[in-house]
Amino acid sequence: MVPLTKESVVGFFTKDIKSLDDLFMHGLQDLYYAEKQIMKALPDMIEKATNAQLKAGFEKHLAETEGQIERLRQVFELLDADPKGDKCPAIEGILKEGKELMSEIEGDDVMDVGLIAAAQAVEHYEITRYGALIAWATELGRTDCVPAFKANLAEENATDQTLTAMAERRINPKAQEKPAEKPAKSQAKSTARRSKPKSPARPAAKAKRNGTKKARRRA
Ligand SMILES: [Fe+2]
Ligand SMILES: [Fe+2]
Repeated sequence: MVPLTKESVVGFFTKDIKSLDDLFMHGLQDLYYAEKQIMKALPDMIEKATNAQLKAGFEKHLAETEGQIERLRQVFELLDADPKGDKCPAIEGILKEGKELMSEIEGDDVMDVGLIAAAQAVEHYEITRYGALIAWATELGRTDCVPAFKANLAEENATDQTLTAMAERRINPKAQEKPAEKPAKSQAKSTARRSKPKSPARPAAKAKRNGTKKARRRA
């Protein structure tokens, strides 16, 4: 049984989010916090990237992220609220995982491939959150906030697509050479395994079942 603490008791009786308005504000503060964390994480990713195109892509997105934070500040202003971040465990986890991955990778070629995947996890997170904020703002009649969210969302989508294009173009053929061969072989193996007659035990099992049926009929 989870021991009761003062915090858990208070949390049980008092809930901060009681309406869609509250949820909207929480989402905005959450994303404001997330964008600021992303802005802090990007310089390290720029430093680690070795492919010039990837490095330039991260640099561009760092500048965009600064602009996105400014747009979110404007939304706070529209809502007559102070810009305030709410600690977002989701983005902290995604960024922490990316950082750990970077510390474990040896070799520039694989690093770029790992960085693309880590960055895409961040973009996908942001895309879902902006989508929710746009929907909630619309439902609440706060369409004045929507253009800022849409502008940020467009940049996240464009970044995600650029990263996908880089991954598809195989910016690093050396890093992709070996993994690309392995799945092909294992796939061939698994296909071969699947194409074999399923199991010699099956007819026996069928015969056994039939035998049981016959036995039942005899009885
Ligand atoms: Fe962003
Ligand atoms: Fe982003």
